[in-house]
Amino acid sequence: MQGIQIIGMGKGVPARRVENEAFTKMVDTSDEWIRSRTGIETRYFCEDEMQMDLCVDAARQALANAGVGPEEIGLCVVCTITPDYHTPSSACMVQSALGLPEDIPAFDVNAACSGFLYGLEVVSCMLGSDALPRPYALLIGAEKLSRIMNFEDRSTCVLFGDGAAAAVIRPSDTHRFFCRLGSQGDAQALNAPGIGYPEPYIHMDGRKVFQFAVRAMENGIRLLEKETGTRAEDIDVFICHQANERIIRHVQKKLKLGDEKFFINLNKFGNTSGASVPLAMAELMENGRLKPGTKAYCLGFGGGLTWGAAYLEF
Ligand code: ACO
Repeated sequence: MQGIQIIGMGKGVPARRVENEAFTKMVDTSDEWIRSRTGIETRYFCEDEMQMDLCVDAARQALANAGVGPEEIGLCVVCTITPDYHTPSSACMVQSALGLPEDIPAFDVNAACSGFLYGLEVVSCMLGSDALPRPYALLIGAEKLSRIMNFEDRSTCVLFGDGAAAAVIRPSDTHRFFCRLGSQGDAQALNAPGIGYPEPYIHMDGRKVFQFAVRAMENGIRLLEKETGTRAEDIDVFICHQANERIIRHVQKKLKLGDEKFFINLNKFGNTSGASVPLAMAELMENGRLKPGTKAYCLGFGGGLTWGAAYLEF
């Protein structure tokens, strides 16, 4: 089985940080409610930045950290539900902004908060193909969710944030990668209508998504154990979609796994959907927690409803 290696990551974060307190001026909520129900303390919102600006910042940093030039990139994928344009895709805009070669595929993947997992699988399949003339892939998770948030709906507006993170990836015979993905079409649980429809905001049945999330994470961990022959207790770090600390802690306690293994940065960024898993991964890399030999389970769930579970070696 050919694996993949993530050799450099970077982040793109808007300049404006927003505290929980700011929402008390818009809706009937409190810092206490938001912290205790979600774990979120702050998030970042774009002001003048476009989603593409976040992608480009993250990608430049990832390329520099990987020591790879734009001319060596053979594939560019952006995982997002909030592209600046329906067409051209965010990936095409990144391709042009960074001066990536023009004979490479560039496209977006829409799988909401599971997006980066979907992206990893797509990249791992395509990197092995003869169709790619160059050795590295650029995979980005990016969102400008503030654009589709209803700031009069307290049940959603306090949850989300903007941001991006990018990874430079190469094929590897020595770094195992396994991924399984799933979906169950359900617009009642979570939807964001497209251009031209009324109320183009995120609508969510939080409780329904919560139950789906807990199930998807538990099942994902069991599936990874079975399919990779690894055991959850031997995994160094769990990189989960950062929606709600209660979801992560519920699963961690139920499976009797150490809480220090479950990385959390949703307190800083809120739920950044497609950017959440790579933002967590990028911060772990920054903190030196993804050393050579580190084994990770990566778990995503979200709109679709979609889910993804991946085993990665660093
Ligand atoms: N401030 C104060 N009260 C609030 C707020 C708020 N911001 N939001 C909701 N409430 C109230 C509700 O109105 C309700 O009041 P009621 O009992 O009088 O009716 C009460 O708080 C409880 O509401 P619940 O929805 O039951 O609250 P819960 O504890 O389930 O937390 C939350 C809500 C945080 C949304 C949780 O359900 C959750 O995290 N769900 C999962 C979300 C998720 O994972 N999304 C991922 C996908 S996102 C994507 O794909 C783009």
